[in-house]
Amino acid sequence: MKNAGLPLRLEGVSKRYGTYTALTPTDLSVAAGEFLTLLGPSGSGKTTLLNLIAGYLEPTSGRIEIGSRDVTGLPARQRNIGMVFQSYALFPHMTVGQNIGYGLAVRGVPKAESARRVAEVLSLMQLEGYANRPIQKMSGGQQQRVALARALIIEPDVLLMDEPLSALDKQLRRAVQLELRRLHQEHGRTTIYVTHDQEEALVLSDRIAVMDRGRIQQLGSVDEIYDRPANAFVAGFIGESNLLPAKVNDMAGGKATAEVEAFRRTMVVQAAAGVEPGQTARLLLRPEHLLFNKTDDGVPAEIVETVYLGELSQYSLALESGHVLTARQITDRSLRKGMKVTLSWDPIHARVVPEN
Ligand SMILES: Nc1ncnc2c1ncn2[C@@H]1O[C@H](COP(=O)(O)OP(=O)(O)OP(=O)(O)O)[C@@H](O)[C@H]1O
Ligand SMILES: [Mg+2]
Repeated sequence: MKNAGLPLRLEGVSKRYGTYTALTPTDLSVAAGEFLTLLGPSGSGKTTLLNLIAGYLEPTSGRIEIGSRDVTGLPARQRNIGMVFQSYALFPHMTVGQNIGYGLAVRGVPKAESARRVAEVLSLMQLEGYANRPIQKMSGGQQQRVALARALIIEPDVLLMDEPLSALDKQLRRAVQLELRRLHQEHGRTTIYVTHDQEEALVLSDRIAVMDRGRIQQLGSVDEIYDRPANAFVAGFIGESNLLPAKVNDMAGGKATAEVEAFRRTMVVQAAAGVEPGQTARLLLRPEHLLFNKTDDGVPAEIVETVYLGELSQYSLALESGHVLTARQITDRSLRKGMKVTLSWDPIHARVVPEN
């Protein structure tokens, strides 16, 4: 079980249903042993992309390679892919061991070797001693680990998982997440993981592809996506954000001069790629980057709501223009509803991003 899997490459892969585009032409490269997560809202095309890789769907255009092999026209069973679904899709009348060994039996692996490999993967999943237990006597979390063991035992070149933990309650989900992370760190193989749970994506992934409307909106490390979102969708989807309308007047050296009506001023701010003069864009300010000043410097605002979160508090701030911003910082009991403050931020954290 020490195989890191193979690299995966998609070139111009798309999927249309009649006139509806479920996936726009997509290029994607995943390194051997990498853990990539597809993260996006419902209907954004995550399952479509995964099923195209698995071979359950035929692409409308494009090419898919696993290692040096072009698998575009190959049926799913010839792609050497492991798949884990949200519904575990286990055989209810079989034991744990029979469920896990099923893929080997189908491939004609001799019984003795199959038993050895089942035992090995059971131990990997910390399910030793469960081989003869009926699958229906396993808990939800255990069943999902059996489903994962069943996918891993065939030593897949690529492991695909479609919301595998969404049927589990929150606490169990967290435990299995950590288990998945341990497995990947020890036996990392190329993995594409679908979720719409942001926190889960952050825990597990080397890189995240944020999807919306059938398109990968941004592909990058967790830090890149959070600190330098490519557009307003990504900024709003990952973490919390204040996104204010901004009119871009000028661009120079990665910075934009933008009119921000909410602040009633023109400012020089960081600019994402794709921001152009004349464009209406959005100014991104994360809640944790808004600072309260005791002096008159900064943008005047009134605290209209405070939410105590323990060590941190969240403050809603109404600007003179009527816009309301969210700020989050260490709880300061002297900051109360109705108080007038001024706001500022380090210019490095003010960033204008394209609308979409
Ligand atoms: N067989 C089909 N015929 C027509 N449209 C389809 C078909 N399958 C999927 N779609 C559409 O393609 C879009 C993408 O679907 P997909 O299942 O990939 O979304 P998803 O990101 O996995 O969403 P979810 O988080 O809800 O699982 C959706 O709008 C869906 O309705
Ligand atoms: Mg889906």
